[in-house]
Formats: sequence, structure tokens, C-alpha cells
Amino acid sequence: MSNVAQTTEEKDIDLADANSILDKYETMHGALMPVLQAIQEAYGYIPEPCVHLAAERLNVYPSQIYGVLTFYAQFHLAPRGKYIVRVCMGTACHVKGAGRIGDTLKDRLGIGHAETTEDLKFTAEYVACIGACGMAPVIMVGDNTYGSMTVQKMDEVIAKYQKMD
Ligand code: FES
Repeated sequence: MSNVAQTTEEKDIDLADANSILDKYETMHGALMPVLQAIQEAYGYIPEPCVHLAAERLNVYPSQIYGVLTFYAQFHLAPRGKYIVRVCMGTACHVKGAGRIGDTLKDRLGIGHAETTEDLKFTAEYVACIGACGMAPVIMVGDNTYGSMTVQKMDEVIAKYQKMD
């Protein structure tokens, strides 16, 4: 068990989960990736204090961890919204007005690509083709796909998720 403090005043992040994860993986060869994946699973992103904790306990430099985090798109260094709204900007969707759909999201929620609403409810992501070109333009909210999007449908989808917890 580590004697690393379980909270940091600086960011007010509770490191208990991160310490438990490190307890589990610390002695494993090649532990860094599974540790980072588990931390992201637990916190929804990789908080900075967790990077420093992992560096200390895995005996690597924080810069090495940041190198991994910035190389792999799967990792997020900032909190993300409960609902990830993916707006497809692939060719078929682009031709059918994906730009207008992205603009609507920006207009209604104030978020563009990789931005999160202040209440941490929504994060916008512009993505490449998600394989549903026949329904272009397409968005996804979490695992749900919405096709043939219009400004009006976008408003309906946003309203639906705004009502949800
Ligand atoms: S281009 Fe959008 S789903 Fe293929």
C-alpha cells in the first residue's frame, strides 16, 4: 500500500481509486497502459494528480506518461460531459450538411469540437465516418445513432438529453 496522500488540495481529486488501481497493477510488467485505462474508467478522464501519482508509483517520469496520453486519442486530459455528442464530418455527412449540424450544437450548447459544457453534461466531438453514410448526416449521442439530421431534429435530440439526468 502506498503512503501517497489520498487527496490533493490543489485539484481536490480523491486519489483513493487511483491508489487502488495502482495497488492492483503496480508489479505487473507493462502496467502503464492498463493503469491509465483503469484511471480513465474510474474518473472519466486522467486527472493531473493521477499522472503524478502513477509516475511516482510506477517509477517513470510524468513526461513519459504525458507522452503516452497525448499519443493515444483514447485518453482525455480534461473532464468530459456525461453525454458525448459525436457529429460525423465524413464526406457523405459533410455533403449533406454536417457543418450545419455542428453549428447548431455550437449555437444551442456553446460547444465546438472537443469542448464540454460547464455543467459537464455534454461534450462535442467531430468525428470521421462512423459507417452510417446511408443516413447522412449522422450524429451519435453515447451509443445511440441519429440519422438524417436537420436543425429541427438536432433541437429535439438536444432537448431529449437535456431532460435526462
Ligand atoms: S460520412 Fe458520416 S456516416 Fe459516413
